[in-house]
Amino acid sequence: MTPLVELLEWDTDHFGFKVARLHTEAPDNLKEAQDICVRDNISLLISRFSTDNVLFTHELERHGFNLMDTIVKYCVDITDYRVAPVPGPAITRPCLKSEADDVAAIARDVFANYIGHFHQDTRLDRDKCTALYAEWARNSCLDNNLADTVLVAEIDGKIVGFTTRKARSAKVGEGILSGVSPEAQGQGIRKALMVASLNWSKSRGLERVDADTHVNNYIIQRVFANFGFRMHSSFYTFHKWFGGVT
Ligand SMILES: CC(C)(COP(=O)(O)OP(=O)(O)OC[C@H]1O[C@@H](n2cnc3c(N)ncnc32)[C@H](O)[C@@H]1OP(=O)(O)O)[C@@H](O)C(=O)NCCC(=O)NCCS
Repeated sequence: MTPLVELLEWDTDHFGFKVARLHTEAPDNLKEAQDICVRDNISLLISRFSTDNVLFTHELERHGFNLMDTIVKYCVDITDYRVAPVPGPAITRPCLKSEADDVAAIARDVFANYIGHFHQDTRLDRDKCTALYAEWARNSCLDNNLADTVLVAEIDGKIVGFTTRKARSAKVGEGILSGVSPEAQGQGIRKALMVASLNWSKSRGLERVDADTHVNNYIIQRVFANFGFRMHSSFYTFHKWFGGVT
């Protein structure tokens, strides 16, 4: 059974204080959840829930939680998709484990000052927020629990872009993290990576691909629109801090 307040081990290690996720959308559980945070010395509690639940938003505000971001979720049906040639100018291919640092370096570049809930929280160290994305990208190249494949785009022998993909079930896959080096942006590389991703998904026998992003990330939503993704739901992320961070 999922606990009401779940300690996020990786985030806790990364930031150096206890970070936890709230697993409820019921106002009646809020007091107990906050008592657990105080008792267990949890510094940061993160709540993500459907934007449909406006009343819960008001309850969180009343309890001192602050809105940090809004996530929009998309999906596309690929049952009729046909594997297509990947357009240039880059070569797209699966990443080698030995290239994990190159992928991490791109993530560090493109997620500096990102619009995600970590960067929006002024109490968090911004360099650590950026490093979180770099580590996530690096680990995705090394750990199949995070990604089944990381596809990269290469120009003149240099990796300039990446996207991480995970099959969540036999039929449904997900694109998780992606980035294109600033000097290579605007040349259609992310769109090429999307073609390569859909090809990979099709070859895995998947029938649907999910994707999500921040509501203000208009560029990636243009990519989704180009490939027929449709938005189906959205989520708020709220933070609440308890005590000082040591
Ligand atoms: C989002 C990102 C991967 C796009 O990469 P890219 O290779 O530059 O994208 P493309 O060249 O394939 O262009 C994709 C679409 O965005 C548009 N676009 C690209 N850069 C743009 C910009 N700076 N401003 C406005 N539109 C832009 C393109 O015109 C294209 O849309 P169109 O086909 O409707 O014209 C890149 O901007 C990036 O790394 N951003 C930071 C990290 C991020 O947001 N990752 C995605 C979420 S995990």
